[in-house]
Amino acid sequence: MPPAPEAARPPAAPDDPVERAAIAAALARGATRGRLLEILLEVRDAKGGSGISEPGLRAVADRLGLFPSEAYEVATAFPAVNYATARPYATGERCGDLVCALLHGAGGTGVCRNRCDGERPQPAPRGFAAYRAAGGYAMAGRLMADPAAAAEVLGRIDAHQAVGRAGVGFPVAEKWRQVMAAEGTPVVIVNGDEGELAIFKDRFILENEPHGVIEAALVAARTVGADRVFLYVRDDYAPIHAILRRALEEVAAAGLAEGLALELRRSGGAFICGEETALIASLEGRPARPAERPPFPTARGYLGRPTLLHNVETFYRITAAWGGAPGAPAAALLHPETRLHSVSGRVRAPGPKPVRRLARLADLVEIAGGMAEGHALGGMVIGGSSGTLVTADDCRRPLAELLAAGLRLGTGGAIVLGAADDPRAVAARMAAYLARESCGQCGPCRVGTAKAAQALAGAGALDRPLLDDLATVMGEASLCALGRNAGRFLGRLSTLADPTP
Ligand SMILES: Cc1cc2nc3c(=O)[nH]c(=O)nc-3n(C[C@H](O)[C@H](O)[C@H](O)COP(=O)(O)O)c2cc1C
Ligand code: SF4
Repeated sequence: MPPAPEAARPPAAPDDPVERAAIAAALARGATRGRLLEILLEVRDAKGGSGISEPGLRAVADRLGLFPSEAYEVATAFPAVNYATARPYATGERCGDLVCALLHGAGGTGVCRNRCDGERPQPAPRGFAAYRAAGGYAMAGRLMADPAAAAEVLGRIDAHQAVGRAGVGFPVAEKWRQVMAAEGTPVVIVNGDEGELAIFKDRFILENEPHGVIEAALVAARTVGADRVFLYVRDDYAPIHAILRRALEEVAAAGLAEGLALELRRSGGAFICGEETALIASLEGRPARPAERPPFPTARGYLGRPTLLHNVETFYRITAAWGGAPGAPAAALLHPETRLHSVSGRVRAPGPKPVRRLARLADLVEIAGGMAEGHALGGMVIGGSSGTLVTADDCRRPLAELLAAGLRLGTGGAIVLGAADDPRAVAARMAAYLARESCGQCGPCRVGTAKAAQALAGAGALDRPLLDDLATVMGEASLCALGRNAGRFLGRLSTLADPTP
């Protein structure tokens, strides 16, 4: 017998009254496909962390006019949704990622500062009144009164030579002009996904200066003529969600959001959610999978509209172009030569460290309070989860030499290793992380990351020809930078003296 058509099925409804109420409430806040991920996260929260049930998912799909398979594809693509998982994400237990494993591996202690960092005090951001009193929102207000001031804003950003801080360093003003030249009403997105292992710089900014980021997003929106702004923030940054919700209410109450829809959205708990095209897909109610480029999001992004997307740090720093409202402790970032390093691992005081003109990587150790008790410097992982393993000797060389030889600082992450830490085990964990986070859409990355993880995890001599082969294929044929950077990471392993003990 052929299966019954969808329309002939009885309406789906979960047994659990809490879930039924949560679904109704989430749908009442907005029943659009674009809100699908957020609806699933809201239901998860109402259920105390466990994911939506299968009948619940079908009920949501029915209401949004989706096939159950479409809703299922989204629910299973985001770990944070906790749909049908035996081991829920964000349970508050130790995350087990690289830094966590280093510190806690043999029963040790220390602050991981990655996913399991619950012991930190509640953040105390600068509030709306204090930010405004220091000159904040003056440019946002001016643009509302005089839209022609947009040309001045662009000129100031040009003069400031602002570049993107998510890693690539693309000029900010050029991106804005591309968006302005494209057809359609633009959308602005603040990328606060920060899903990369051991990076916590955006968290530092949002915990201290939420209004600086929001003001920059408002100025960007008014300059490029957008009607909508999304703040897309990592799912497990719950204290920051509360800070931003309040900040957005204050901005709206002050009349600064007139004509603009401002919305906080949470990401889905996967590293790939931060890749711009994958992020946009998740905001459209689709799985977070990167798209081919061109077209670039500046021309065709969210729902086919021109989309201006920057990292949190980029937004915050451009307030300096029009004077901003500097306030400690983030004000150091308003100097163009300052870099925000996320320092973690075997140091006494891990954390976000704004540094001006870093001379040697080893200096980060002193800046982070020195090596942890009983450890000597054994090297660093620089740039994030698909970053570079740097030997202790190289850490002590002038940074300029390393940069000239091709080292990339990326998003500024620095995981400090001890002399007793096994670099091969570190590389194996990095590869396993990349294999887990690969979205699986293209072969070179899906297969390459898995093979690399397997090769590095095994005992015995490293199969360098295999790693070099994988590095070439992944570097050249991966669709997005996750696979390409993973290739670079593997390629650089061969230049290390020897990552085997
Ligand atoms: C796997 C992957 C993850 C990414 N995650 C983030 C992220 O969490 N935050 C971010 O701002 N950019 C992230 N990016 C970079 C974005 O695609 C995009 O280039 C960036 O947000 C642009 O910001 P910028 O103009 O401020 O540099 C990621 C890229 C890749 C390939
Ligand atoms: S390179 Fe990896 S993460 Fe990027 S699209 Fe391909 S499979 Fe997905």
